[in-house]
Amino acid sequence: MNRTALITGVTGQDGSYLSELLLEKGYRVHGLVRRSSSFNRKRIDHLRSNEDFILHYGDMTDSSNLIRIIKTIEPDEIYHLAAQSHVQISFDVPEYTANTDGLGTLRILEAVRLLGLVERTRIYNACTSELYGEVKEIPQTENTPFHPRSPYGVAKLYSFWIAKNYREAYGMFNSNGILFNHESPRRGENFVTRKITLSIKDILDGKMKILSLGNINAKRDWGYAPDYVEAMWLMLQQDEADDYVISTNETHSVREFVEIAFREAGIEITWEGEGLKEVGIDPNGNVLVKIDPKYFRPSEVDHLRGDPSKAKKELGWEPKTDFRTLVRKMMKAELEQ
Ligand code: NAP
Ligand code: GDD
Repeated sequence: MNRTALITGVTGQDGSYLSELLLEKGYRVHGLVRRSSSFNRKRIDHLRSNEDFILHYGDMTDSSNLIRIIKTIEPDEIYHLAAQSHVQISFDVPEYTANTDGLGTLRILEAVRLLGLVERTRIYNACTSELYGEVKEIPQTENTPFHPRSPYGVAKLYSFWIAKNYREAYGMFNSNGILFNHESPRRGENFVTRKITLSIKDILDGKMKILSLGNINAKRDWGYAPDYVEAMWLMLQQDEADDYVISTNETHSVREFVEIAFREAGIEITWEGEGLKEVGIDPNGNVLVKIDPKYFRPSEVDHLRGDPSKAKKELGWEPKTDFRTLVRKMMKAELEQ
């Protein structure tokens, strides 16, 4: 294919699956990695020997570095995935989150513009169902008004609109993917799905006694990350840039995720008590799940469900993996480790 892509956030869950997909398609893939005191490349380690996979040190808060990298590579496609992506942590580091997730997108757009690459470079911008926050309708579509509920959601709102504004103002090919939650065995350990599967494994291994969670009644539209990175690629193969919801149109609670994950590990969980006193117990009466208010968020997103009809019609994209299969895959991978 002889095309060149730059992936910001290449060490993350999505960056790793997208790298595999693009390399399979024959792309030369450049990835932006942050310097850290210990190596954080375990998701992409298996790609290290591929000579079409090239890493560059960089950071979304450093404009000159981004300009230099983009100037050197002159990418056909930029997949802008880098972000401080944890919603609860964005309440602890709101300014950093705004800088990375909001202004970071502006830095990429400006770099492409200043380098005269507007005609050449197409940009995928990683937006999120967190934009809907306090949802105005169910299911959410591309036309549903936004009402973000966290510094992360607000930073991504800026990211969404600045990409759209540069599309309208300068004719740039910037597509916003409004992706709903997507998970995998490579999901970060402090997102709820991975925290649950990892904790169940630790409980079975005797390393942990109780899984502590926050709001187990929150509902999410959970898909499988490898399915979702295909949608990113498809968005950049269209004749025109646009905004797309990528989701399954199914919603499930954290509670359901807990029940199914434990079941996959051979333990039937039942619930007793209410509110902060609610616990999940195994058939022998052992408490395996409890509620800890430290995981409650100052403002929560209660219910997400996305309608991906536009993506189906225009991109020919559909989710391939249902909720139960997703939980099974994640739990199986955890138990096999
Ligand atoms: P992730 O696993 O948390 O990966 C985030 C990536 O961004 C990592 O490579 C991280 O590097 C990098 N990064 C963070 N801050 C950076 C900075 N200042 N400079 C350079 N790189 C930085 O996230 P993900 O699940 O793959 O999600 C990818 C993107 O989609 C994110 O923008 C996220 O907000 C968005 N999104 C995700 C979901 C989802 O459900 N997964 C849904 C909607 C939207 P380190 O490895 O060094 O930390
Ligand atoms: N992380 C976490 N840890 N969440 C918990 C816990 C816990 O112990 N207990 C309950 N939850 C609830 C959260 O309050 C939230 O309602 C839900 O589980 C999902 O939380 P996360 O897995 O942290 O994901 P998120 O929905 O907040 O954000 C993810 O999805 C967004 C798309 O909707 C992230 O990947 C974001 O980057 C992404 O934009």
